[in-house]
Amino acid sequence: MNLRLPLSQDYLNSATTSNIPHSAIALSNKLQMAVSEAYINGLEIPDFLVLNTLKPLISLIYQHFSFLLVIDDWILQESEVLAENSKELMRVQYNLPTELFRLMLTENKLIYPKYTVALWEKEATTLIEAQQAMLDDVIQKAGITDGDEILDLGCGWGSASNYILSKFPNVRVTALNLSQTQCDYMRQKMQEPDSYLSSGRFTLIEEDFNTVQLANQFDRIIAIGLFEHIGNLTQAWQKIAKFLKKEGKVFYHIISFKLPHNGTSPFIDKYIFPRMRVWRYEEPFAPKRDLKVINHWYLNGYNYAKTLRFWLKNFDDHQTQLQNLDYGMEYQKFRRMWRLYLLWCIAYFEANEGKVLGNAQYLMEPV
Ligand SMILES: C[S@@+](CC[C@H](N)C(=O)[O-])C[C@H]1O[C@@H](n2cnc3c(N)ncnc32)[C@H](O)[C@@H]1O
Repeated sequence: MNLRLPLSQDYLNSATTSNIPHSAIALSNKLQMAVSEAYINGLEIPDFLVLNTLKPLISLIYQHFSFLLVIDDWILQESEVLAENSKELMRVQYNLPTELFRLMLTENKLIYPKYTVALWEKEATTLIEAQQAMLDDVIQKAGITDGDEILDLGCGWGSASNYILSKFPNVRVTALNLSQTQCDYMRQKMQEPDSYLSSGRFTLIEEDFNTVQLANQFDRIIAIGLFEHIGNLTQAWQKIAKFLKKEGKVFYHIISFKLPHNGTSPFIDKYIFPRMRVWRYEEPFAPKRDLKVINHWYLNGYNYAKTLRFWLKNFDDHQTQLQNLDYGMEYQKFRRMWRLYLLWCIAYFEANEGKVLGNAQYLMEPV
């Protein structure tokens, strides 16, 4: 396989301050914020109109003006620390009430709430089936086998950990997460006899990826949806490589742009995922890092868009329960902000037939 793709540094050298049209980006950011905040504050626009306006507009941006997605210089450079603003990210997003995610993402005894793309290309009809199909896909591509020591980085509510433990009677899983509410959910499961998290083969670490140190080494490290929050891949892979056994492998699964540069949205940055970035697909191929890509896959954005449409429907269907939870702001405002987040994301993933924004998966090993 030829893995020689354009290198990150080439783009960084050519695309820093001088030749990016900053005034156009500033105007585009302002427009997006003005429309989004008008919507959050009560502007009524039906969903079909939002989507039918945003999708062609975003397609146009992807094809001709993708620099508008470089909302600020920070998005092109590796950050000082691994994960910037991680406490703020927990406050704004991941420590929101568990009930919100339980109802929106759904769960059953095997599949716990999973806040990443489901796989619809293998005949799944329900969200749970599609999430299970995705976890089977991860297990197969990561090459997980019974007896493996596994590290699940950014483990959410333990969906992948629980599913893997259910499939393989002799694996052991260590899971890392900074979110207290998500860890509380898993600590509860660790007390329930019918949860695989209570099997004695699961270790939970509530800590920041920035600071965590581990004595153990692992056969497989999986990171499903964590690296959108990592600003310095060089440092992150240096750290992860130390957690790997000699023959170990990392399976790294992330939202990804098939563009020459990274990007995000000012609305998402301010209200939903502070300092989240969508890395360009080619970024993991940059040289002089501690891990190298040995296999890679791109999942069309329709998989994410369909997953998001289920989340939006679940969110709308559970208003009675959801309106009484504490979001740190007035509920109707939160509801509009949350719906707009899901709508923006559907449009970003569906634009250009899902070929520009999708989900990347990489299998990596030490250099
Ligand atoms: C998009 S969610 C994905 C969760 C899970 N892997 C899944 O597929 O449902 C990202 C996860 O990374 C965790 N996370 C984000 N930044 C982190 C950090 N700096 N340290 C540890 N965990 C972090 C979040 O709390 C959340 O659980």
